[in-house]
Amino acid sequence: MNIAKPSRKLHYIFIILTVLTIVGIVLGLLFFTPKAATPSATTAVSTIKTTGQTKQEPEKPVVPSFDKKRLSTTDPSSLWVVVNKSHKITPAEYTPGDLSYTTNGVLVSGQILPDLNALIAAAGAKGVTLPIISGYRSYANQTTLYNNYVAQYGQAVTDTISARPGHSEHQLGLAVDLGTPSNPGCSLKACFATTAEGVWLATHAQEYGFIVRYTAENTDITGYDPEGWHIRYIGRELAAEMKSQNITSLETFFDISGGKVYAN
Ligand code: DAL
Ligand code: ZN
Repeated sequence: MNIAKPSRKLHYIFIILTVLTIVGIVLGLLFFTPKAATPSATTAVSTIKTTGQTKQEPEKPVVPSFDKKRLSTTDPSSLWVVVNKSHKITPAEYTPGDLSYTTNGVLVSGQILPDLNALIAAAGAKGVTLPIISGYRSYANQTTLYNNYVAQYGQAVTDTISARPGHSEHQLGLAVDLGTPSNPGCSLKACFATTAEGVWLATHAQEYGFIVRYTAENTDITGYDPEGWHIRYIGRELAAEMKSQNITSLETFFDISGGKVYAN
């Protein structure tokens, strides 16, 4: 029939146009979709709106950094004070305002008592007894001690084992010397480090906010022979930070000078 011809033609044209339209849409979607128009579902974003403008920034994890300036390293009442042969106590005859007695009658700064008691109790629970044999020493007491050593050993040797008056952590009330009942022959001697008490302290003192202040590896910077029995309170926060950074001397951690020779 004659009428069928134009109708079939229109039909083909319609099909072709439809196919072209679909191809056009597919190509349009493939090549012209704006990639950064919307955040993907898996990308965390935060949106900051400022006077009509929208700014999107990736969220960053908040890692609190240790603030090395939070406490003074020069104030003698500060837990972070650093005293050595280059940095004397100021004022020279400083006395802590919070001296308190330990349970066995030794004077120390009250700041250290709770953690000192916790340390001694924790060691005791493991069968390690840590008697406190020395704590706070006044400027006058340190003078007498130092002069007695000088008379006995001479000044050069004394300067490797005893602080001159005005330079001792004992005057801060923040240091204690501990005994070794398991091996009394090693009391206040280098071999203390090999005793059960010395090994326990080297391993655990930092958990209670203390450090073994004078170690064999730090002799050049601390200026003293190793003293495995002398622990210094610095607080749990700093002790944990030093441990995490594998730093064992205050001088290194705070970038403060030390050494074997007196600067003042
Ligand atoms: N034995 C330490 C260094 C002091 O006298 O403080
Ligand atoms: Zn000591």
